[in-house]
Amino acid sequence: MRLSERIRYVGVNDMITELFERQWPLPFGVSYNSYLVVDEKVALIDTADIQFEEEFLSNIKAEIGERKIDYLVVNHMEPDHSALQSAIRREYPSCEIVTNAKAAAMIEGFNGITEGIKVIKEGECLPLGSVNLRFFMVPMVHWPETMVTWCEEEKTLFSGDAFGSFKVVDKSVIDSEPTTFEEYEDEMTRYYASIVGKYGGPVQTALKKLGGLEISRICPTHGPVWENHITEVVGLYDKLSRYEASHGVCLAYGSMYGNTEKAALSLAEALKARGVECGVHDLTKENYSFALRDVFKYDTVILGSPTYNNGIFPPVRQLMQGICDRMVKGRRFMAFGSFSWAAASVNLLNEMAVAAGFEILNEGITFKQGYDPAKFDAESLSSLV
Ligand SMILES: Cc1cc2nc3c(=O)[nH]c(=O)nc-3n(C[C@H](O)[C@H](O)[C@H](O)COP(=O)(O)O)c2cc1C
Ligand SMILES: [Fe+2]
Ligand SMILES: [Fe+2]
Repeated sequence: MRLSERIRYVGVNDMITELFERQWPLPFGVSYNSYLVVDEKVALIDTADIQFEEEFLSNIKAEIGERKIDYLVVNHMEPDHSALQSAIRREYPSCEIVTNAKAAAMIEGFNGITEGIKVIKEGECLPLGSVNLRFFMVPMVHWPETMVTWCEEEKTLFSGDAFGSFKVVDKSVIDSEPTTFEEYEDEMTRYYASIVGKYGGPVQTALKKLGGLEISRICPTHGPVWENHITEVVGLYDKLSRYEASHGVCLAYGSMYGNTEKAALSLAEALKARGVECGVHDLTKENYSFALRDVFKYDTVILGSPTYNNGIFPPVRQLMQGICDRMVKGRRFMAFGSFSWAAASVNLLNEMAVAAGFEILNEGITFKQGYDPAKFDAESLSSLV
């Protein structure tokens, strides 16, 4: 598919994989984007997931026929983009791999390739004929070897996972009707929160480094090619990487026998009645990435957990640990939960929230055994938000 005369999309959609990285659900699938720059020389930028070799190679053939690929540019070595490097080498034996030193070591480690690798440095230029590719290192977005590739003549940034999103690109690869920013915003936020979330600092460094480029097309490795919503997409990344959130609540809970759940739902009702935006997540039914998405989106986190083996109920502990692992900053926090003989979960959650530097809205509500509105005043708790 042509993005311009010289830039072609050769990515694939994945509606088969249920869990990305074997942990993040893909209700709308995911795409593995790869691009060809067709000039006097032909460069392929990144590859695709191992399951899609045949389709990927045939997409390339559809664009360049019997021409050969001169360069394979490797921006990032996570196997969702690097697993087909050996297939490209087999099909195009003279193709030179162009990447940085850290990625080159990983290419050997993952794929056993040591020959025909051109190691480039920050800012170095690869001439293709009428256009040049230039490389900028963006370490820890979200691996250490990560770089982006810039084509000045096309004002195009091949950004790797940065600005990427879950959800296949089945309507239009480019973000023009019916493919809109709004349609991808949630899945882009969930991708960011799950995978990149810990690396807000490096993302900020990368945004500053790339800020001077005049970009009219962003080609990420997942999700749409951004041409019409660059301001929104870059703005979202800037906001997420600064851990900036809008007013609202991520209300997530787990419950074995429904008591903590009843409290959660009554609080959700009370928040709704006040017009507070609130994402409600039952962590026993839903993967925690959806709640993590809302932790990045909203300024207030409220968690409900029964006490379990003198601790936090495991699905809730997983989310709270996920929040701490990602070094989320600047949130307001409250916890609640049922117990039977000795309450522990709320205090433990509060300790984690204090360690994360969160503002504690109140000491938390623990209630013994059955849920009873007299023990859990949802109305007054909602007024704290
Ligand atoms: C395996 C298991 C371990 C538990 N551990 C504790 C505990 O250490 N301390 C406590 O007070 N209650 C403990 N409980 C009791 C629950 O916290 C209590 O039943 C609570 O009401 C459950 O809330 P829920 O209805 O929201 O699931 C445990 C329950 C189970 C099933
Ligand atoms: Fe990645
Ligand atoms: Fe990726």
